[in-house]
Amino acid sequence: LKMTASSLLFLVAAACLMPACSSEEVIGGREVAPHSRPFMASLQYHGEHVCGGVLIHPQWVLTAAHCHHRTPRGQAPTLGITAVRATPSQGPVTSLPSLKLIPFSGFTSDPESHDIMLVKLHAPAKLNKQVQLLQPRPRDDLRAGTKCRVTGWGATDPDVLSPSDTLREVTVTVISRKLCNSPSYYNHQPVITKGLVCAGDAQGQKDSCQGDSGGPLVCGGAFSGLVSGGLKCGDAKKPGVYTLLTRKVQAWIRRKLPRPPAE
Ligand code: ARG
Repeated sequence: LKMTASSLLFLVAAACLMPACSSEEVIGGREVAPHSRPFMASLQYHGEHVCGGVLIHPQWVLTAAHCHHRTPRGQAPTLGITAVRATPSQGPVTSLPSLKLIPFSGFTSDPESHDIMLVKLHAPAKLNKQVQLLQPRPRDDLRAGTKCRVTGWGATDPDVLSPSDTLREVTVTVISRKLCNSPSYYNHQPVITKGLVCAGDAQGQKDSCQGDSGGPLVCGGAFSGLVSGGLKCGDAKKPGVYTLLTRKVQAWIRRKLPRPPAE
């Protein structure tokens, strides 16, 4: 057994000398420890994962507004609130039907508006070790160079684009708005406005991808943004685009949510 273990280790080490090793697995990330991200929600239609989300209140999940448009009209998603490994066989920790979807004011008519949506659950989720809240922290901007973690069940292969069976996380670096809007990057298509932030990595090996939308961007321990868009995945000059949880967004959330119960 010892022999096997050490030869396995050797094989892994050898494989990691090759360039592909760092871009295998979200893109370029790794699986998170079970129950270590108990605020993660998976938005599902017909049992299929379409977007990530964050439990911010026992009865409310924050996600991306465009996740609404992926489904036939009038259909409400089910939310699997889960810690990790929501494989079809293991299932989520708790599965709750949604009651209503509230996209950020005017999102549907104005695509430049914030890509944010609140999902009200039919009943409050029971909070426990495996199901917990993550509170957004008002942040009006993120400096270029800031390291952030993005978490989700999104695609791990930019060419296949099917969701991942396991929950993954990757560290991305904030890119200045000026660079992100420059001709070799997005060239103002779309315009990276003050409410948005680009984050990726210089080699293009670390990124969010299809299915990660609505998931959290956590910077220095603060829940600061949501996955919104990006052209392809893992392309250094087309980094992920995130919605900033600015004070304006937070004020909107506060208006929609009931007051937190007194402690
Ligand atoms: N819009 C995608 C989604 O719905 C997220 C794309 C992220 N793309 C990227 N290159 N970071 O899941």
